[in-house]
Amino acid sequence: MTPDDAVQGALCTHMGREFAAHFQYLAMSAWLEDEGLPELAGFFARQAAEEHMHGMKFFRYLVDTGRAMHLPALDAPASGFASVESLVAAALAQEQQVTQWIGELVHLAREHRDLATEAFLQWFVTEQVEEVATMHELLQVVRHAGPSLLLVEDYVARRRPGTPAA
Ligand code: FEO
Repeated sequence: MTPDDAVQGALCTHMGREFAAHFQYLAMSAWLEDEGLPELAGFFARQAAEEHMHGMKFFRYLVDTGRAMHLPALDAPASGFASVESLVAAALAQEQQVTQWIGELVHLAREHRDLATEAFLQWFVTEQVEEVATMHELLQVVRHAGPSLLLVEDYVARRRPGTPAA
């Protein structure tokens, strides 16, 4: 396997993880809709759209750099959650895992002196800081709210894009 092959394979694998995250957040959004929590459901639907955009960034980068495209099989997302807190904790764990994977990709690109891929990945390094912070804050709010989930709905509504207070 040539060095470029190693980077290509890792980029394809990670593209699949971003699309798997898209599906996972959609599954969370559906569960929250069913629970009658439309603001939280909307939040996770927007997160799902972001993950789709992340996957497409990898897709575009693979095309633009002339690499072979291998779309990996995706595992079905988790769909049964014990509580809103466990759902948000799972989302935070997912973001922390993605952060680790992005870091490993950066190290792989460095190892292969692939400067373009390293530069491409920098956007994701920055993005992951925001995504982990957002999910961590949401988890804290959910824990503070306890059974008062309408307080969480209000918190999410006030931070929705387009809301004056956001
Ligand atoms: Fe694309 Fe939230 O990781």
